Amino acid sequence: MTVNFAPTSCLREQETRQEVRAPAGRGVAGRVRTTAEWVAYFRANAARRRPVPWQAGAEVTAAELSALARSLQAWQLGETSDGRHLRRAAARYGARVGDPEYATAIELFIREEQRHGELLGRFLDLAGVGRLKADWGDCLFRAVRYCLPNMETWTTPVVMVETLAMIYYNAVRRATGSRALRAVCAQILADEVPHVRFQCERLAAIHRRRSRPGRLLTLLGQRLVFLVVVLLVWVGHRSALRAGGYGWRRFWRAAWAKMNVAWRWMRPERYAWEPEPLPACETRRAGRCERRRVGQNSSSAGVPLSTT
Ligand SMILES: [Fe+2]
Ligand SMILES: [Fe+2]
Repeated sequence: MTVNFAPTSCLREQETRQEVRAPAGRGVAGRVRTTAEWVAYFRANAARRRPVPWQAGAEVTAAELSALARSLQAWQLGETSDGRHLRRAAARYGARVGDPEYATAIELFIREEQRHGELLGRFLDLAGVGRLKADWGDCLFRAVRYCLPNMETWTTPVVMVETLAMIYYNAVRRATGSRALRAVCAQILADEVPHVRFQCERLAAIHRRRSRPGRLLTLLGQRLVFLVVVLLVWVGHRSALRAGGYGWRRFWRAAWAKMNVAWRWMRPERYAWEPEPLPACETRRAGRCERRRVGQNSSSAGVPLSTT
């Protein structure tokens, strides 16, 4: 089983290739991938590592370092979370919705993020700037997720940060001549589009049963949160973003354009959903109704219930 994505740094719908069934109708993109498909994807992707020319050294100038170093240290810390809380939330959620394999998908996702952290850490070591133990942005991000430890509260800010990460790593790649750092950015960028897709599909499944007003309120809340996240990322990382050609206006426009794609991926109506089995009590009630209906039809038509 394979789930492939075009390697890309951009979050544009036409740039992802889905191995899903054909569109099921107007405005419907396909089905969400099963957890087993995501597990297969993460396992296959772990074996598809791009080469990084570490032997070339850091190849970074003092000017590049002054624009990038502090910001890279903060991102490196963010990518190296041990994922303890997330593992617990995923196990609870998987048990609740009858999808125990979801915890495995999350485990593989955490490992992929940790590989990003290892790559960035190795570059920081090579450049001689060291690694951070704490950062205000990382603390804030963790606090938001830990105070409401359910899958939606965990997943929503992750989608936002990963969306902005695509702009950020693209900026870093443009801001440096270091072959190693550029290769690290290319690897992270190639991984991030599927990450956003993975989270958006899960949010679509979570939002699926929400009423229309409830979903509108959710979207409004997400837009407010995203506004804050965009501002915080700009405040914390503007020197690196500027070095990569993202002034405030360009960053703002790119952030909302990419997040709008993520919001489209979160819409439950984009997907064709498998009919869900009814709970046992509903099944019994439906069976009784069906027997009554067939009985009424049969008696009026004078046809026996069974011909055997
Ligand atoms: Fe990452
Ligand atoms: Fe990611």
